[in-house]
Amino acid sequence: MINNSYINIFKINRFTINRFAINRFTMGKIMCGIVGCVLTNRKAAPILLECISKLEYRGYDSVGISTVDENGIHLKKGSGKIKEVDDKIDLGELPGSTGIAHVRWATHGIPSKENSHPHISNEGNISVVHNGIIENFGEIRESLESEGYIFHSQTDTEVIPILIEKYMDKGFNLEDALKKTLKIIKGSYAIGAISKNNPNEIVAARKDSPLIIGVGDKDYFIASDAPAILNYTKNVIYVDNGEIAILNHDGVIVKDSKDNIVDKKINLIEWDAEMAQKEGYDYFMLKEIHEQDSAIKDTLSERDNINEIITEIGNISRICFVACGTSYHASLTGKYLIESMAGIPTDVILASEFKYSANTLNKDTLVIFISQSGETADTLKALKVAKKTSKTLAIVNVLGSSATREADFVIYTRAGPEIGVAATKTYISQLICIYMFAAILANNKKLLDSLDEVPEYISEILAKEGEISEIASKYINVNDFFFIGRGLSYPTALEGALKLKEITYIHGEGYAAGELKHGPLALIDDNVPVVVIVPPGDNYDKTISNLEEVKARGANVIAIGSCADEFIKTEVTDSFCIDENVNEIIAPLIYVVPLQLLSYYISVKRGLDPDKPKNLAKCVTVE
Ligand code: G6P
Repeated sequence: MINNSYINIFKINRFTINRFAINRFTMGKIMCGIVGCVLTNRKAAPILLECISKLEYRGYDSVGISTVDENGIHLKKGSGKIKEVDDKIDLGELPGSTGIAHVRWATHGIPSKENSHPHISNEGNISVVHNGIIENFGEIRESLESEGYIFHSQTDTEVIPILIEKYMDKGFNLEDALKKTLKIIKGSYAIGAISKNNPNEIVAARKDSPLIIGVGDKDYFIASDAPAILNYTKNVIYVDNGEIAILNHDGVIVKDSKDNIVDKKINLIEWDAEMAQKEGYDYFMLKEIHEQDSAIKDTLSERDNINEIITEIGNISRICFVACGTSYHASLTGKYLIESMAGIPTDVILASEFKYSANTLNKDTLVIFISQSGETADTLKALKVAKKTSKTLAIVNVLGSSATREADFVIYTRAGPEIGVAATKTYISQLICIYMFAAILANNKKLLDSLDEVPEYISEILAKEGEISEIASKYINVNDFFFIGRGLSYPTALEGALKLKEITYIHGEGYAAGELKHGPLALIDDNVPVVVIVPPGDNYDKTISNLEEVKARGANVIAIGSCADEFIKTEVTDSFCIDENVNEIIAPLIYVVPLQLLSYYISVKRGLDPDKPKNLAKCVTVE
């Protein structure tokens, strides 16, 4: 049994928490969350509901709870956000004091009730929640089907309860049946399983997906992450790779892969639940800005899919992007790339204005819809219209969302759930998809390969985040900002201005640097700071001329440019420099990061909540 005598104390400090976030919690994608509990004298379901709600940041496609008592396994689940599902089926209303729960961010199979966890074995004796990916589930499923087992979902997870039941039917107990199952499955997992035969027991296992155990007075928990259980216990055990745990009324036993009992330390966590949910970051937006390097790495895995889609689409004479908000700015970057590299005429249309262009489409037009949510009403309406005449492709973050069901072809941005209303990691992931698409279209292998370097450049920026915070402090009381750039840096300027408006409530205007002299220059004076995006490349000299124009009108210039650029270091009010190897072609993927941080820090320093800007919603489902 667990030795309670040794307690480690973790201080509340972002960097300490991040260390654990990286080492313990985020090996693999933050997708899906699990919890489980073995309670004494209390119903499990209402507590599981509360615990799983704390993990909604890990996924919100579907939710389910399963409990067990002397009458067997009980289950309630459905697709949608926790509140929506709970309003319909009262998730907390299940008997039993032992149970498991899950929130899902779909990776295999669309979000639906059938694909929701927990998954139940064929005879209904075993219930399982899983976070991770079972890579060889296809072959296991085939072999189980040939033995007569029936599958009810498209998920990789369903093989687990079926295998456990198969071994229990052969006489193994729950723990040994799980061990046999782990020998067969390959991939990553945090698993919680309950069985009709053991109404007061959970067995759990971990490999490359996060799993902790909570040790209460007479109550024991499992969870993907500490915030889920902090209201019940602050004593946690970190389950290591290859270990399994058995939780029952006697306590917790952890065993290693050789079946030896491990003397685990109990660690006292001093964070509050909300702080831990954000992994120590003050806001989700900052956490998501920091997740951009891993979002890019995951999104790069779409390369083969994009290759196949381009081959299948065949000849096209025109491309038309349709999107809203941040997704519109990603689309605009696509126009510059595709026209300059592949020579295909490309338009970008705001989804809400699409109907005026609809009759210019034909069968040789490819219409690309970009949407984080895949549910934006304006975008969906345009998609339905475009389908009638043209080939349609959706670039979407949320698996199984409406846009993915309507479009002929789908590319996923693999950014994971984004909670902050202002898009950050999903914007970068959209850009990565667009860059891959354009580079493959133009047969530009050099550009394609250079995308692998982007995460490193972003990490370099994040390491100097404090510089941006200092710059932000100087500008918290201004009323207007301009953001200017040329060519591929123009959409970046628009996105910088949008971020500012969204979360600081300061007026920000993005402008093509060369267009400034045709009107807005009249607005420039020492009260209007101008952010100039000036990476090295063909547009450099002309952008510097525009910078001089605003400087001459008294503007405070904040320049974002190369670390090798002496001019921006000495001749402007403030500057932030980026690796000199980043040229203007790949700059949109990197130069936007200091702009996101600038808005974030101005917002926080103005005392605002950047995660929940007033009047705005993450997903706009009205036209
Ligand atoms: C809302 C959000 C924006 C987002 C836009 C488009 O306005 O607040 O952040 O860019 O919708 O959303 P979509 O999900 O279609 O990318």
